[in-house]
Amino acid sequence: MNIDRHPGERRDRGLPGGTLLNAPRGQRSRIRSGTTAVLAALALAGCAASAQDGGAETAAGEQPTGSAPHANAAAPPPAGGPPPAPKPITLASRSGASGGEALYVEHCMSCHGPNGMGTGLLARRVQPALLEARDNLAAQYVIVAARRGIGNMPPIPRGEVSDAELQAIADYLAAGPHEAAR
Ligand code: HEC
Repeated sequence: MNIDRHPGERRDRGLPGGTLLNAPRGQRSRIRSGTTAVLAALALAGCAASAQDGGAETAAGEQPTGSAPHANAAAPPPAGGPPPAPKPITLASRSGASGGEALYVEHCMSCHGPNGMGTGLLARRVQPALLEARDNLAAQYVIVAARRGIGNMPPIPRGEVSDAELQAIADYLAAGPHEAAR
């Protein structure tokens, strides 16, 4: 397999996507016969590398002069990555919780906290997405959703949360919205 050939081709012809379509017939069949994956990998690697190069150049070029009329020109450079995620809510951080609230924090908050997977997925169809901020959750609905699972939420078994505990959680949520969710 002559993989040296393809990076050169890509440079000559511009976009990697054009290579397959524009290649002469003999070449086309060779590309189809097993080098497609290699070509795709090379193309991806090339794109990633050039995107990085471009980014580095832009950052280095713009910052010292400040001459580029860019929307974010006034914003300070990101100091080492994305902003910190919200702190997880645990029984330790919500020490005043008791009863249904404490059980909710213990068993549900890992997914239904501000940064949780459940909150993120619910945000696609309900507002507010935080269960504790809702004013329309019937206790029976909470129980059925938890026991059966709903959408991407797995069923919560009795071995994990007993009927009495789930009833307390459901009553807590049904009595919302709760100030604690703000
Ligand atoms: C493993 C993560 C996870 C845990 C733990 C979890 N949930 Fe969920 N929950 C989800 C996800 C994800 C959804 C969104 C389902 C969807 O729409 O796809 C959801 C949705 C729900 C809904 C539906 C809300 C609506 O508007 O339809 C209820 C009620 C609910 N969860 C209650 C609970 C309760 C009560 C607990 C604790 C006993 C709990 N969940 C624990 C992930 C979780």
